[in-house]
Amino acid sequence: MKIVEQIKQPIAYEMDLFEQKFQLSMSSKVALLNRITHYIVNRKGKQMRPMFVFLVAKMVSRGEVRERTYRGASVIELIHTATLVHDDVVDDSNIRRGFFSVNALWKNKIAVLIGDYLLSKGLLLSIDNNDFDLLKIISVAVREMSEGELLQIEKARKLDITEDVYYEIIRQKTATLIAACCSLGAASVKPDSVHVETMRKFGELIGMAFQIKDDLFDYGDAQIGKPTGIDIKEQKMTLPLIHVLNHATKKDKKWLINSIKNHNKNAKRVKEVIAFVKQNGGLDYAISKMKTFQEEALALLKSYPDSEYKTALELMVNYVIDRKK
Ligand code: IPE
Ligand code: IPE
Ligand code: MG
Ligand code: MG
Repeated sequence: MKIVEQIKQPIAYEMDLFEQKFQLSMSSKVALLNRITHYIVNRKGKQMRPMFVFLVAKMVSRGEVRERTYRGASVIELIHTATLVHDDVVDDSNIRRGFFSVNALWKNKIAVLIGDYLLSKGLLLSIDNNDFDLLKIISVAVREMSEGELLQIEKARKLDITEDVYYEIIRQKTATLIAACCSLGAASVKPDSVHVETMRKFGELIGMAFQIKDDLFDYGDAQIGKPTGIDIKEQKMTLPLIHVLNHATKKDKKWLINSIKNHNKNAKRVKEVIAFVKQNGGLDYAISKMKTFQEEALALLKSYPDSEYKTALELMVNYVIDRKK
């Protein structure tokens, strides 16, 4: 059995039902909106966030999920989708999930409005059902994601990013939403329990590994359903490059910074930078950091009694760093 199927097995029923509820949660009376949201749901992603929600909920409650667990999962996937639609505008990226991005097909104006629509649909789903404790978890994540994206832009402009700032950026823009999945999964079935914080931390650690993996994809040329090699073009410095910069000679450092500052749209030069990063151990370093986060996440699961849900979560942690897209 494929690893993803193995992970989904203990939550197969929930994921099926989730899918139906998620589709309904996007519907609108406006024809253009419906056309675009259909386009989006027909190209679904890996759905790792709802998987985290259900697996954590079932692990901490020994098999129980509630209506609000489903709503929480839908809200998170709506918000995730909204941020991807906006992210492709911000990153000027034309491909998402193997197809044209919303901005590529309908232009930026519409992509901005679609993102806002999905975000508001998500928030209202919580509000209309009085899930205020879950809404709080989600809203913190939304705020942090915006801050992380802006911090990333600020650092791309000044080219003065350090390794610690990189971790802060990926914690905010990616790890907080995965942290929210896990703490919300726990809170939906065991509100006010110690699991809410333990699972938040678990999700945060695995979210860090998740984004390092995503940044490593950008250095490869595998087919991952979105463009690769665009980070340097966008002057976005990620862990492999930051590490190499910190250990380069003065001369190499000058060449690297000059390449990113003034030649970032020159495909040949970008290739040279990527090759330099690879030759100087940038990818190996990022992989080792990713594995450290993975191990810390796995350690947090140790305190839970064995169950099929815990086993699936362990597989999921490993999938985050072994995945092919
Ligand atoms: C992509 O997330 C955005 C990042 C935080 C790197 P996913 O890789 O989970 O995207 P989909 O939903 O599977 O397309
Ligand atoms: C992911 O950022 C989007 C958010 C976390 C808001 P990236 O720009 O790094 O992700 P991809 O590679 O486009 O999915
Ligand atoms: Mg981005
Ligand atoms: Mg992007």
